[in-house]
Amino acid sequence: MIKIAPSILSADFFSLGKDIDEVCSGGGDYLHIDVMDGVFVPNISFGLPVLSSIRKQTEMFLDVHLMITKPHRYVERFCDAGADLVSFHVEADEPQDIFTAIEAVKAKGKKVGLVIKPKTPAEVLFPYLPLIDLALVMTVEPGFGGQKFMADMLPKIRALRNEIEQLQLDCELEVDGGIDRNTSPLVTEAGANVLVAGSAVFKEADRAAAIAAIRNIES
Ligand code: DX5
Ligand code: ZN
Repeated sequence: MIKIAPSILSADFFSLGKDIDEVCSGGGDYLHIDVMDGVFVPNISFGLPVLSSIRKQTEMFLDVHLMITKPHRYVERFCDAGADLVSFHVEADEPQDIFTAIEAVKAKGKKVGLVIKPKTPAEVLFPYLPLIDLALVMTVEPGFGGQKFMADMLPKIRALRNEIEQLQLDCELEVDGGIDRNTSPLVTEAGANVLVAGSAVFKEADRAAAIAAIRNIES
């Protein structure tokens, strides 16, 4: 079963509650929350107070994508603020601190994910796969919504799906960036099972129809 994770980065923050309600009732599976620090990526989005406010108002599964440097400093606070899953970039910390951060999220009873940027090979994630709940392949350079899908990431998705199957792991495979009704069949065929979509959901007036289209279902 394919899961769709609308990214609120493309929502209208003046009417964030309404936008979240629409993707919740419209069939979104996870709510994807992009946290950017202006250092790891060249953009700043929002952080802990926004997550806390969302947590108070929705039962949706909150999939928090940290694009911040040295995430081990913050992962516990994102768990406490209401994340169901916290994912962070393997490029953003020393390997020892990546392991520390993974264990810190698990100790909080939350799911944990690791993310790779387009230039990072799939194999970098292999040693971590038995430890994590979700692997996330960026299909654009992280930092901004509305960018073009990078088709050359498809072999990486396939490589990770193969490794997850070889090791018989219960690890989800998420993709993020440029996902819409045209690119979703490519990534699901390659083995992704969680599809983040920002602009393809929130720039459409009918969010339920947009989500159904990404699932490739006629609504
Ligand atoms: C980009 C973020 C994405 C972004 C995707 O760095 O991680 O989650 O919201 O936006 P679209 O779907 O518009 O490419
Ligand atoms: Zn994201």
